[in-house]
Amino acid sequence: MRYKGWLIYNGGLLTKKFIELNEWYVESAKKLAIDLLPIANSELFCQIEEGKVTLEPQLTRPDFVLFLDKDIQLACQLESLGLQVFNSANTIEVCDNKLLMHQQLAQAELPQPLTIFAPMLFSHVKEPNPAFLDHVEEKLGYPLIAKEGFGSFGEQVYMVDDRHQLEAIARKLLHKPHLFQAYIKSSHGQDIRVHVVGDRVVASMKRVSELDFRANVTRGGKMFKIEPSDAFSELAIAASKAVGADFSGVDLLIGPNDEPIICEVNSNAHIKNIYQATSIDVSDYIFEHILTTLKSHSS
Ligand SMILES: Nc1ncnc2c1ncn2[C@@H]1O[C@H](COP(=O)(O)OP(=O)(O)O)[C@@H](O)[C@H]1O
Ligand SMILES: [Mg+2]
Repeated sequence: MRYKGWLIYNGGLLTKKFIELNEWYVESAKKLAIDLLPIANSELFCQIEEGKVTLEPQLTRPDFVLFLDKDIQLACQLESLGLQVFNSANTIEVCDNKLLMHQQLAQAELPQPLTIFAPMLFSHVKEPNPAFLDHVEEKLGYPLIAKEGFGSFGEQVYMVDDRHQLEAIARKLLHKPHLFQAYIKSSHGQDIRVHVVGDRVVASMKRVSELDFRANVTRGGKMFKIEPSDAFSELAIAASKAVGADFSGVDLLIGPNDEPIICEVNSNAHIKNIYQATSIDVSDYIFEHILTTLKSHSS
């Protein structure tokens, strides 16, 4: 039997890089007799009509949806229509927001850096609360890390060296969700990216930057294929499970005793970098996992 899937991508991101990525998934799906139809999120209109969830245009129902966008209400709409969405709307939402992600990981009591969430403030508040900044300073010391709730490629992650910088960043992020975090010095400029599919590790690399405390490849991090130790593999799998991911890219920091500490879980980790580093095509594993899940639900 042939399967039909939709690949949902962001309509605003039709750059060469993303078109290539869509084609990659389509080709990879073919190998498992899956017809994958790329659809931009902006092509689907979510409605509540006569009190019911509907979607236009009315296309043939797929067997599953591979959701590579962050349009959470669309993902929810598709789930409400009874479609099986990979990753789930809830996983995408949790991974997209670093504050929710850390909270969810804490439910599973997994190792993470000491993290303090900034309170949400209404727009009439113009200055951060000095007592909160005192607290951050006292708990974390300097340097410390500040992160926006929503961000990627390391672009919204900052190193804070002193009170002056803390005040400046707190003011800049005043009306955005953000957090402050212990700086894991032993991991400066390096981390381990582990791709988990289902409940196993399928590919891993170490990223090392000589230029920046952030190891992101887009910021100059170099990639090296590695076989992670059991401790790193087990924590990556536990983190992926804790956010309910079908597939994920888990970033692990390296603690002072070489122990793993979770940095973040990405629900839509790029498959191209890891392929370049390891020659492993993570999409093959993703489709295998999807078919296994569909079959287990239908039997
Ligand atoms: N608490 C920390 N201590 C040391 N380095 C960190 C810390 N948090 C993040 N980093 C570095 O910054 C990079 C980007 O942070 P991350 O939270 O993964 O944000 P993004 O979603 O932008 O990739 C990480 O890959 C890691 O190299
Ligand atoms: Mg990251």
